[in-house]
Amino acid sequence: MSIMQTLVQTAARFKPDADPDPLIASKKYVGRALDRVDGRLKVTGGARFTAEYAPDDMVYAAPVFSTIAKGKVRRLDTAAAESSPGVIAVITPKNMPRLVTPSLTDFAKLDKIAASNLPVLQDDSVHWNGQVIAVVIAETHEQAQEAAARVRADYDADEGMVSFERNKDKAIMPKDVLGEPPEIKIGDAEKNLKSAPVQVDATYRSPYYNHSAIEPHATIAYWEGDDRLYVFDSTQWVEGYRNSLAHVFALNRENIRVMAPFVGGGFGGKAGFWWNTILCAAAAKMVGRPVKLALSREGVFRIVGGRTVAEQRVALGATREGKLTALIHTGLTVTPDHARYAEQCTFPTRHLYATEALHVAQYVVNLDMVANTWMRAPGESIGTFAVESALDELAVELRMDPIELRRKVEPARDPTKDTEFSSRNLIEAYERGAAEFNWSSRNLQPRSRRDGAWLVGHGVATAYYPALRFPGGARVRLEADGTAIVQAAANEMGMGVATGQLQHAADRLGLPLHCVEFDYGDSHLPTSPMAGGSCQTLSILAATRATVEKLHRELLKLEQKDSASPLKGAKYEDLVARDNGLFLASEPSRGVSYVEILRKAGKPYLEVEGVSSAPMEMMKYSMASYGAQFCEVRVNETTGEVRVARWLGSFDCGTVLNPKTAMSQLRGGIVMGIGMALTEEMLVDGRSGRIMNRSLAGYHVPVNLDVPRIDVLFNDIPDPQTALGAHGIGEIGITGVAAAIANAVYNATGKRVRDLPITLDKLL
Ligand code: MOS
Repeated sequence: MSIMQTLVQTAARFKPDADPDPLIASKKYVGRALDRVDGRLKVTGGARFTAEYAPDDMVYAAPVFSTIAKGKVRRLDTAAAESSPGVIAVITPKNMPRLVTPSLTDFAKLDKIAASNLPVLQDDSVHWNGQVIAVVIAETHEQAQEAAARVRADYDADEGMVSFERNKDKAIMPKDVLGEPPEIKIGDAEKNLKSAPVQVDATYRSPYYNHSAIEPHATIAYWEGDDRLYVFDSTQWVEGYRNSLAHVFALNRENIRVMAPFVGGGFGGKAGFWWNTILCAAAAKMVGRPVKLALSREGVFRIVGGRTVAEQRVALGATREGKLTALIHTGLTVTPDHARYAEQCTFPTRHLYATEALHVAQYVVNLDMVANTWMRAPGESIGTFAVESALDELAVELRMDPIELRRKVEPARDPTKDTEFSSRNLIEAYERGAAEFNWSSRNLQPRSRRDGAWLVGHGVATAYYPALRFPGGARVRLEADGTAIVQAAANEMGMGVATGQLQHAADRLGLPLHCVEFDYGDSHLPTSPMAGGSCQTLSILAATRATVEKLHRELLKLEQKDSASPLKGAKYEDLVARDNGLFLASEPSRGVSYVEILRKAGKPYLEVEGVSSAPMEMMKYSMASYGAQFCEVRVNETTGEVRVARWLGSFDCGTVLNPKTAMSQLRGGIVMGIGMALTEEMLVDGRSGRIMNRSLAGYHVPVNLDVPRIDVLFNDIPDPQTALGAHGIGEIGITGVAAAIANAVYNATGKRVRDLPITLDKLL
């Protein structure tokens, strides 16, 4: 059963709307631009990342990568590697421990996670160019690398299917797209398109992308006996990795501990469970010592997949007044059969605009490639490039301001779910952004503004990302001295998780910030969803809210054993938590401190664990964050060079927990979008399937000089359906960015580029 079906069934029993979270009105730390709690550790080098741990007696692993895309390893010559200095073992399918095959992420359960369901080094078959075919273990990292280079492989190579261009005709419709139907039809969109007075029908292309997180993937694993495994890993989901390791090594989950106190960026690339983690744990088992497997940058390109290449058609039929009569969005992406991940590029189109008829459909072609995976706003980032470019093309056809067009197509209800929006203030985000950006001074006529050799243009596009929540747990321990520790197996890869969650916990408990601690990054802590899908913040807020409620109910019970208590006869609903204790909402002077409650009860501490409810609100409502991306580009008329000169992102993403960390998240997303639009592109050799530019010298992420000052505005309107009224914001920043740039480039030059990245050759 898909997660959607599960939710639909449970939603049938959904209770009436709860009141909005009362803390929205009384928050104190939430909403403040506090510094990150781990900021000092990070800038002073005190924060330890996975590869920096050094257990005693540790040895080093280096993978050997295949040089063919498909076929078999006929002969593997490991003699030279084995006699190389410092080598302890060379792992091949012959001596590799027998492992259970990883199972792909199951969206109904979402407890395990794997990017690929291939057996890991269990046989001689090769499924992509770059697959690991052997692992060398040595006393030092250098010795392992050196010996790995001495392993020789002969292959029986098959033809393989690696070229997107040559295999597009083999596209099939996947069974589902992240648990949702691959195709939705409302009315007859093709018929409406043909009869529409104004029509746009275009194909948009985007290349393979790589996450390029600053910290390459790393793992350190060690065993205690045969059945206890400890793993440090640069993962976005300690618990999912713990569960997946338990599955692959056939161990009890309780016997495995995965720790990731700090992660240097992930962007989706550290959410799927990849071979490096499995190989490291297997190596540690084989040699009976702690093993470190730290991938080189090349190693990341070889065995960790990125974002799929995509080809999307968007067709719009409209009246002369700008009402949509047809909205068609079909997408073709790549996924190998061992990943089966159809990137959800049509998802934004399912929820954004009012139209008489709609048709969305997705197709995949199965190539012999490394598993593709989630990469920051998977689906929405490339999907908004297509649909937001097309909308701009329609505005041009209509000779209408593109923001005016967004007003005309703003829906009253979700177009495909036919539900209410829990909170949608997209037009307000456009209006606030337009005022701040001085949009009204923009020329509707393309190629009408210049500054010397530079053509100047302005573009906008809508940003969109769903507000997702998953059930999760938390533990709160209140100490006799009135301090508290909140624990959840959260993952901090730079987003500011710990800071935002601390602000929330302090407000929820009514404690000063310095009296609260937040523990995370360890699979032994209460269950949390992955730091992915921008769901972590919302999920842990809800879990903490439920757990603190439980704590307060227990404290009230303890307190009411005292017949002289100021809270005598009070119910939980009568209370507010503030000033280090519990008080009557109706009579603010009547209350008691946490210290006093525990002292009277004779308890050294009180610890409770709680879980949040199933996310039924997601079924009942259409829940998402929205935004308006504004930019100014300058295109050099002689060289075709594109420079982003100004940026403003105006977002509608619920209550902002911490404007400082939030702006940083959104700016980061926008920077990544600038890379997606202008510089980034993973090049795959169409004959061998080999990734050609597997380094940051060849794969160009934007650098400081490519990025202008980025301004960020928030509506800061709470969503009544979520804890604190908040939404996750990790991914929305990148959405709409590539379209805003392409639209601005059109406005500057009169040239419509539908093929990312927008390199200068496409403008000459
Ligand atoms: Mo995000 S691509 O779900 O880390």
